[in-house]
Amino acid sequence: MNSIRYWKGFIAFVFLATVLAAPVHAEEMTDGEAVDRAVAVLHPTEGNQTTGTVIFTAVADGVQIEATVEGLEPGKHGFHIHVLGDCTAPDGTSAGGHYNPDGHPHAGPDQDKRHMGDLGNLEANQMGRAHYVRLDDYVALNGPKSIVGRAVIVHAGEDDLTTQPTGNAGGRLACGVIGIANP
Ligand code: CU
Ligand code: ZN
Repeated sequence: MNSIRYWKGFIAFVFLATVLAAPVHAEEMTDGEAVDRAVAVLHPTEGNQTTGTVIFTAVADGVQIEATVEGLEPGKHGFHIHVLGDCTAPDGTSAGGHYNPDGHPHAGPDQDKRHMGDLGNLEANQMGRAHYVRLDDYVALNGPKSIVGRAVIVHAGEDDLTTQPTGNAGGRLACGVIGIANP
């Protein structure tokens, strides 16, 4: 009898401690602090197998972008930040168009004027895996043009870096919402 009461009390204590501690912890992590690391986990759209992770890290000269993606056909695949962090549509179209806060044309990632979301192409090897690393001086993690809360999309085809406004990169293979990363 006593031991049942003890355990009931113990479970109630653990429950309360968890509930009370969690919001405090979350506030400590984000309250008033600049975002210096963001992450997107890529999930396949309907009928596809593409998965991966994209990490955005603030560095001295901009934002380091590192992506590891698998489940691709060998070759190039358009790789962009899209305006809406909404991957609900089975084909990924709910994420909208390329993130373009400054009204620039679609272009390659090294062009002077481009969509902020224009990250160029992933290049998958014969195993269907792609590793992408880029130091970007335009992508923003903070402020009114932050990419946090938007989405990363991987496309079926190659971004030709020219065709407006999409680069003619074809369908959407994977979609992932960009969130604040756990440091
Ligand atoms: Cu795209
Ligand atoms: Zn674009």
